[in-house]
Amino acid sequence: MSITDKLKNVDALRRFVKKCKIRYEYMLDADVFCKYYMEESDKREDYEYRMLMFVHNIEKGMCMPNPRPFGKEKVAKLMDMIKACEKEERYVNSSAYKMSISILYQWVLFYKEHGWNDELMKMVDAFLANYGTDMKGMDVGYKIVQKQELTVNGNTAFDEVIKTRRAVRTFSDKKLEPNVVKECVLLAQAAPTACNRQMIKIYQISNRENCDIITDTIYGASGFTRDTVNYFVLTYDVKSLDYYGERNQGYLNAGLVAMNLANALHSRGIGSCFIQWANTASEEREVKKHLGISETEHIAVVLGAGYYADEMYIAKSCRRDMEEIFTSR
Ligand SMILES: Cc1cc2nc3c(=O)[nH]c(=O)nc-3n(C[C@H](O)[C@H](O)[C@H](O)COP(=O)(O)O)c2cc1C
Repeated sequence: MSITDKLKNVDALRRFVKKCKIRYEYMLDADVFCKYYMEESDKREDYEYRMLMFVHNIEKGMCMPNPRPFGKEKVAKLMDMIKACEKEERYVNSSAYKMSISILYQWVLFYKEHGWNDELMKMVDAFLANYGTDMKGMDVGYKIVQKQELTVNGNTAFDEVIKTRRAVRTFSDKKLEPNVVKECVLLAQAAPTACNRQMIKIYQISNRENCDIITDTIYGASGFTRDTVNYFVLTYDVKSLDYYGERNQGYLNAGLVAMNLANALHSRGIGSCFIQWANTASEEREVKKHLGISETEHIAVVLGAGYYADEMYIAKSCRRDMEEIFTSR
């Protein structure tokens, strides 16, 4: 037995070292958070997430039961951010930029409809004269929906998809079809995100060398068919997080998107298994560097995936009694 193994067998020492590692990894996470969170991104004039959040705030203002003039501070800031975006091509092509112009347009319409004749509204109106109708036409704002529009007629297909999805780790060698994957990504995108900030990104990894890097780095991939597995790496962008209270928001939002993705893949004959990203900050840095993922993003979870093989061995994964996890008070 090596000296390290002998030391690991000393309970108190092992627990002490583990606690030190936990604190250390949390500290590294905090460093990334402090470096990139939303206000730091504002300082760099990187406004994408701030704009998405403001668009959402204004939409919510439009949904109030008895609306009163609202959103002035945000509207003024949005105009400044739109102008700042115009310094860089990549921002001008972004959805956030176009959505921001479009929400200003809707905000002016809303004010006019309510007869709120306001100085700022006139300024925004003049500001918008610089933009063509194509820039003002994103599907933002509010709409009134009738109950029957939100009523799903029969839920058998939904239940069937949810109940038949199982974690599989054996995949056929059929290549993932790009159009099918895109359909699934669109369904994953239908998942909600906090303030509609859409901070979750999905990376499909099918190149064998890249897949091997993940297989060799991630801790939970034993039992996966190494030669046929594809991966979907889900990240969250720290730039989207506004303050300390949101430090876990990325994981929650990634979970929502990931579940939609897994169910969508399953509905199209593609099996998957979540793999927790339990790696150290330095392992994460290496993998992200190799896959070309920005250092502002954290890997939240990974899905191993591929078309179903003809026969697979799966764990039964029995669920607890409902009473053990559900309380109604
Ligand atoms: C967040 C998360 C992380 C997981 N990590 C791993 C993993 O590292 N390795 C693995 O083989 N399975 C992993 N799983 C798969 C679970 O063991 C499996 O989903 C669970 O037993 C329930 O079974 P089911 O998916 O067939 O319903 C993970 C699942 C989730 C939701």
